[in-house]
Amino acid sequence: STVSQGTALSDICSTETYELADINWDDLGFGLVPTDYMYVTKCSKNGKFSKGDLQRFGNIELSPSSGVLNYGQGLFEGLKAYRKQDGSILLFRPEENALRMRTGAERMCMPAPTVEQFVEAVKMTVLANKRWVPPPGKGSLYIRPLLMGSGAVLGLAPAPEYTFLIYVSPVGNYFKEGLAPINLVVENEFHRATPGGTGGIKTIGNYASVLKAQSAAKAKGYSDVLYLDSVHKKYLEEVSSCNVFVVKGTTISTPAIKGTILPGITRKSIIDVACNLGFQVEERLVSVDELLDADEVFCTGTAVVVSPVGSITYLGERVSYGKTGVGAVSQQLFSSLTSLQMGLAEDKLGWTVE
Ligand code: COI
Repeated sequence: STVSQGTALSDICSTETYELADINWDDLGFGLVPTDYMYVTKCSKNGKFSKGDLQRFGNIELSPSSGVLNYGQGLFEGLKAYRKQDGSILLFRPEENALRMRTGAERMCMPAPTVEQFVEAVKMTVLANKRWVPPPGKGSLYIRPLLMGSGAVLGLAPAPEYTFLIYVSPVGNYFKEGLAPINLVVENEFHRATPGGTGGIKTIGNYASVLKAQSAAKAKGYSDVLYLDSVHKKYLEEVSSCNVFVVKGTTISTPAIKGTILPGITRKSIIDVACNLGFQVEERLVSVDELLDADEVFCTGTAVVVSPVGSITYLGERVSYGKTGVGAVSQQLFSSLTSLQMGLAEDKLGWTVE
């Protein structure tokens, strides 16, 4: 059921007084809570996406022969909206997600929405679901834009039609550990990405291919897997769903972006926040051996925010960090970033969008 443009749309997206959804806001994890509306627009292979509509959130119809189902022609994004004390809602650097989707679309032979259209569509979807944005301090509204080859193909080729869709869900912490340190295991058999591949874009296949190693790690009690580069098998890449940082003294190092690592928006923001706080930040090859004498290790991502690492197991040897609790550096970076995202600190860099 499409909600047509005009009065209905302005009613749905109005910011007049409204009641929050009636759910237990203290009990949010990172699981889908169906909300009210999703945004949908389509275009042909060489076309431009039309203005788009809000539809009731629900299942979509796809040809069994669609490009996304058969050949994985799909991308996704992730960003969050936070509610401020005054009730207003903040997005964090949404244009960065739009740009990353455009880069990924070029690699996957897909048309992409313009930055302006992407950001407008995100705003519209959030406003239409405003009663699902958690109260301050209770979590955030996770926004999931999808771009997919929805047209039918049989032979391997770009699909003739594309769908850009945005849905949202209120979320709490990503890991079941909450904000407590997570335990990682270095993966020695499987790799997440390889030079010349698609590791540097947010294509759906990158996430399906890490499920096997992740499931095996979880079965052994680890929170997730830390991947090594596929050529030398000795440099850190990233965790299945987030980037990784290593702290030694006042230097913070993270694997450089070189095509196999997802260019995280939280990664990029943490680098700037850390530099502004006086840390020296290095983007370079980070050897797995450096984990042995690191002071702290932490992960960053939209979903995970800044997640401290409590231990890493490599070739059966376990190295522990922060035996006295969460490391001071990851704690400081977490607070600095989330204060900005939640509108509690002055946004000198203009990263938030109301
Ligand atoms: C995000 O952090 O937003 C992601 O896209 C990772 C996903 C596996 C939850």
